[in-house]
Amino acid sequence: MTATPGARSIRVEPGTQAGEVTAGQGYDVWVGNGALERLREHLRGGRRVLLVTQPGRAAVEERVLAMGEAEGADVHVARVPDAEAAKDVGVLAGLWQQLGRAGFTRDDLVVGLGGGAVTDLAGFAAASWLRGVDVVHLPTSLLGVVDAAVGGKTGINTEEGKNLVGAFHHPRAVLCDPAWLVGMPHADYVSGLAEVIKCGLIADPGILTSIESDPDAATNPSAPIAVELITASVQVKADVVGADPREASRREILNFGHTLAHAIEQVEDYRWRHGDAVAVGMVFASELGLLAGHTPAELPGRVRALLTVVGLPTTYRGDRWPELRTVMGRDKKARGSLLRFVVLEGVGRPGRLEGPEEQMLRQAYATVAD
Ligand SMILES: NC(=O)c1ccc[n+]([C@@H]2O[C@H](COP(=O)([O-])OP(=O)(O)OC[C@H]3O[C@@H](n4cnc5c(N)ncnc54)[C@H](O)[C@@H]3O)[C@@H](O)[C@H]2O)c1
Repeated sequence: MTATPGARSIRVEPGTQAGEVTAGQGYDVWVGNGALERLREHLRGGRRVLLVTQPGRAAVEERVLAMGEAEGADVHVARVPDAEAAKDVGVLAGLWQQLGRAGFTRDDLVVGLGGGAVTDLAGFAAASWLRGVDVVHLPTSLLGVVDAAVGGKTGINTEEGKNLVGAFHHPRAVLCDPAWLVGMPHADYVSGLAEVIKCGLIADPGILTSIESDPDAATNPSAPIAVELITASVQVKADVVGADPREASRREILNFGHTLAHAIEQVEDYRWRHGDAVAVGMVFASELGLLAGHTPAELPGRVRALLTVVGLPTTYRGDRWPELRTVMGRDKKARGSLLRFVVLEGVGRPGRLEGPEEQMLRQAYATVAD
């Protein structure tokens, strides 16, 4: 991690991931006051820039436009619908049209400004235009900065499901000033904390002790600890996506809690927040790990306490198990008919559990059923 006044950077050196032919180029994730200044260097040289943004991001948009003018860039703005409605093939086609009409070449740039929906869309537009142009992400949500904007996964939704169409395309930089997060609805910020806690559980115990020592500050984007939690979580993701190519399956550990979470999201028709579903999924995976003899006895209780203290849910409807079990069997991460779970051998020590018995799955679910 590098520090400069106001902002810090974490280097991401992507290894080759499943679905990629070559590793992406390395890039920096800048977090902190003044991070946006780092955009300047990407705007120089008379570049055309497509700024893809969602409703409500006007303050940062104006700063980007002013910076573009100062640096001599030709900035075009694409205002896309809010949230998941942006990750749509019709919206993507609109971006291609804008890129084509403005004559964007391989030397030009796409900038994604907003939550994870925008950075997923902008990243995929950049991946597909002329088979790949540069993209810089400006994430404005907690989930966006700690997860969606980092790691190179881009994509859109189709009628057949979420995130089924996409590409790996690493950004040239990711820049986030936590001041942008201050306007987030509290429940959305807290939901993003589930991914932060996940990073703590799979790789960085310091994240957990920071949250445990001051839970109120952890839920406040203006508290100084916000930068600490964000940079520590980005570091975990950077370490995982930068793992040795021969260890490409290591990326799987980011999926801790996600097998049940994806099923809850689907059963709820995506009305549940992603992080809320991940929170319940992490309790389930901890209890499953305990039943399977991998997870130390005290860990599920600590996971529950951490989630509860920041206001995340730890239970879900008991009557939904049959439906959840069916959906989990169709998970795109499942191999054949075997269910695979990331479990914890301890804090910072993820392991794998393949094909647990039905009785064990039911027993683990009983501990999260309300
Ligand atoms: N590519 C990846 O690796 C990856 C990882 C995790 C999630 N994702 C994707 O990210 C998306 C979810 O991320 P999200 O929750 O950030 O999505 P989002 O873009 O839908 O944002 C959620 C809501 O928060 C609002 N918002 C964003 N920033 C705000 C701010 N600063 N102040 C006030 N409101 C703000 C948005 O307008 C939106 O209404 C999903 O589409 C998911 O599939 C991708």
